[in-house]
Amino acid sequence: MSDMRAALFDRFGPPEVLYIGKRPIPTRTPENVLVRVHVTGLNGGELLDRAGKTRLVTGRTFPKASGIDFVGEVAEVGASVTGVREGDRVWGLLGRRTGSLAEYVAVSPRRIAPAPANLTPVQAASLLAGGATSVTALRDKAAVKPGERLLVRGGSGGVGSVAVQLGKLMGAHVVALAGANNLDFVRGLGADEALDYRTTRLSELGRFDVVLDTVGKQQAGFRRLLAPGGRMVAVTFDFDRPLAGLAAVLASTVHGTGRIRVFSGNPDTELLTEVTRHAERGDIVPVVDTVHPLDRIADAHRALAAGGVRGKHIIRIT
Ligand SMILES: NC(=O)c1ccc[n+]([C@@H]2O[C@H](COP(=O)([O-])OP(=O)(O)OC[C@H]3O[C@@H](n4cnc5c(N)ncnc54)[C@H](OP(=O)(O)O)[C@@H]3O)[C@@H](O)[C@H]2O)c1
Repeated sequence: MSDMRAALFDRFGPPEVLYIGKRPIPTRTPENVLVRVHVTGLNGGELLDRAGKTRLVTGRTFPKASGIDFVGEVAEVGASVTGVREGDRVWGLLGRRTGSLAEYVAVSPRRIAPAPANLTPVQAASLLAGGATSVTALRDKAAVKPGERLLVRGGSGGVGSVAVQLGKLMGAHVVALAGANNLDFVRGLGADEALDYRTTRLSELGRFDVVLDTVGKQQAGFRRLLAPGGRMVAVTFDFDRPLAGLAAVLASTVHGTGRIRVFSGNPDTELLTEVTRHAERGDIVPVVDTVHPLDRIADAHRALAAGGVRGKHIIRIT
């Protein structure tokens, strides 16, 4: 084994900057495992990274790899690793590193878990990042309780489509904001109410015990919808207006009780296993929009950027 195919880009820009190049297969140390990647999900954040909107975090070194999550099969196991065997079907996330849009990833065993046995790799990938993020947001950060009113902004996207399902499972009354063409789709996922984000005014929404924001804009306005004791969790931020976005988050920690809890997920085996359990019990069902081959990664970015996504765009690699 020497080189592998991987999605790369040499400068920030539109989807056309993406290309399939060669990279050395990552080194498998005694402490980690090498996973042959079958599929990855395309996450909204990867579009921001490719466009350079997150360059303060990602830096300016090129070429850059892309892709955060993966579903695949363990190809090699380091000598110090226990509990993982060659051939295991696993899923995982690379954390703050990227590069899962490649034939192989080398990863700590603490970042993988058995993939759901009842799902194909494509189906599993549709629940991976959204599942891990939703469990962190709704279980760990917001501690959603039965009967609470939960607002999900971005209810039809990769995170939101799983959060709507998980919110219902936790017994919440779920209101989802989504595009006009996706209102029936999010109701089908279990949302009690689905509203068009382009035509619904903040003043029409009412009060919420929990607001989950997967959009990142107008956060101060959505925070004002919190009922007493309410919690707002944001998985993203206004990267188009970073100073205003930062100001809203900082101000929320000083004024009032409704702090905007922004987090960047770093799922471990425990969290991934919880998502596996949910998937195997059928608590959350796969939400595959379109499957794209790795060679068409730029088309996949264009499709997600065009809007109207239903769940996940999936990239098939091997
Ligand atoms: N912090 C973390 O750990 C973490 C983890 C995962 C993702 N994220 C971040 O979360 C964000 C969403 O990720 P994703 O993968 O779910 O993205 P995605 O699949 O692109 O979904 C975004 C959704 O938001 C909807 N939307 C856009 N503008 C909206 C608005 N003003 N009001 C309501 N909905 C709106 C879109 O609907 P239309 O397509 O119809 O416009 C789409 O359904 C990204 O910024 C990503 O980086 C963070």
